[in-house]
Amino acid sequence: MTKNFPRHDELKEVITLLSKEAAAYFKKLDSLPVRDIKADKTAKSFIKSLPENGAGAAKSLKLLIDKSYSAAVHSAGPRFFHFVVGGSTPAAFGADWITSMLDQIAYAWVTSPLAVRLELLSLSWLKELFELPAHWSGVMVTGATMANFVCLAAAREWWGEKYGRGISEEGFTGLPPVPVLSGDHIHASAVKCLAMLGIGRASDKKFIADPSGRMDLNLLEDYLRGLKGSPAIIIGTAGEPNAGAFDPVDQLADLADKYGAWLHIDGAFGLFARVSPSAKHLVKGVERAHSVSVDGHKWLNVPYDCGFSFVNDGRLLGKAFAYNAAYLPDPDDPHPNMGSIGPESSRRARSLTVWATLNAYGRKGVREMVDKHIRLARRMGQLVDDSPVLERLADVTLNIVCFRYNPGNLDEEKLNSINKELGEALLSDGRYYAGTTTYKGMTALRPAIVNWRTNEKNIDEFIDVITELGKKTERNFRKSGKSLIVN
Ligand SMILES: Cc1ncc(COP(=O)(O)O)c(C=O)c1O
Repeated sequence: MTKNFPRHDELKEVITLLSKEAAAYFKKLDSLPVRDIKADKTAKSFIKSLPENGAGAAKSLKLLIDKSYSAAVHSAGPRFFHFVVGGSTPAAFGADWITSMLDQIAYAWVTSPLAVRLELLSLSWLKELFELPAHWSGVMVTGATMANFVCLAAAREWWGEKYGRGISEEGFTGLPPVPVLSGDHIHASAVKCLAMLGIGRASDKKFIADPSGRMDLNLLEDYLRGLKGSPAIIIGTAGEPNAGAFDPVDQLADLADKYGAWLHIDGAFGLFARVSPSAKHLVKGVERAHSVSVDGHKWLNVPYDCGFSFVNDGRLLGKAFAYNAAYLPDPDDPHPNMGSIGPESSRRARSLTVWATLNAYGRKGVREMVDKHIRLARRMGQLVDDSPVLERLADVTLNIVCFRYNPGNLDEEKLNSINKELGEALLSDGRYYAGTTTYKGMTALRPAIVNWRTNEKNIDEFIDVITELGKKTERNFRKSGKSLIVN
């Protein structure tokens, strides 16, 4: 054995190093800038050539940790409001470490009774948490994109059966296009899934009532009526990432019932409204859908990557994802085979972090976390309303605050330019992270609050930082000779 080969005694060094470094990192995480100003430079500073002789595990990991402080984006910390991103709770972090330690394959019982049992158990706890029917099937995937994929694969199978066809066996040849009906809140990932499933992005028909993206239920109903009983798939979004708006789930379920359509609800983060007494009404009727997708790495605060698909007719998952080979477990194996009801064969045991989180904090803990974030979002909304230079653009429905810098007397074009620059300035400043979007034609900031570490002080400070950077951006615009004043 050469000195380059992995050695057992390296493990002891690695464990000692990581225990010390993890403790130091978590101690600093609350105060670390989200992004270091030297992040790009540090990321590029790793040497490019493949080493002939290895440096050894401890030395390599120390280098990795040292560079990570600067080159990583500290999205697990309390000041990251970009996208919709949670951080790992202590229980989830520990379970993720155990997941790496055990290196399980969550494919089937034969590869890991632990992972399969905990996946099924956690999924049934989640159904309880979200008040979804106990008989629904579920499977863990990488996130809401793949959860949408799994749910829509089941919908596609259902649609084919209406024509007496098994789409996953025979394909679409000779069949009409699949009508997919949605509103403007449909997430880009759901549309991407239509492409991946061969349904096609262009199959998506949007029924939009107004520039906020609200669904036009009358137009949707007219269309369903016009189908004269032929099957369609409705995609509703429970919590969209621009302003946190919801499609009317219960009314969509009424339409799905009346016209015999499949109803899929994308509840990537919005399904968590279900656990909060103050927000539950937003997802009323979700148990009447045929499939529901939700993320773990957003509001449950388990580490990336983790998402859940729930489908009311598990048989369809079996049809969509069944496969077999002589060396694989027998299809008649009485033990569950997760690889045959979802897209992946090699699967990380994501269930360990989910089980540990739910076991550690329980239903009450999840509810408290969601309630806290709703309160924090309302607090932020109030601070925006109280500010003379900020303008709230949408109701704070749940955990997202959609607003812009607007000191007054500026036309829309200039406001859009300033807010775009403000968004960029915020990311390079690094104290806080939030993204921009376009809302009703206006460039807006859309901080999303889902991290368990975030507190009141972070919210107040974020508004101070935005105000400071907004004023600076406006001053720079003026200095650059561009006139910002209308008239
Ligand atoms: C409503 C909705 N659906 C789907 C997704 C995609 O989720 P993921 O990135 O976990 O695949 C997101 C991400 O923000 C989302 O907000």
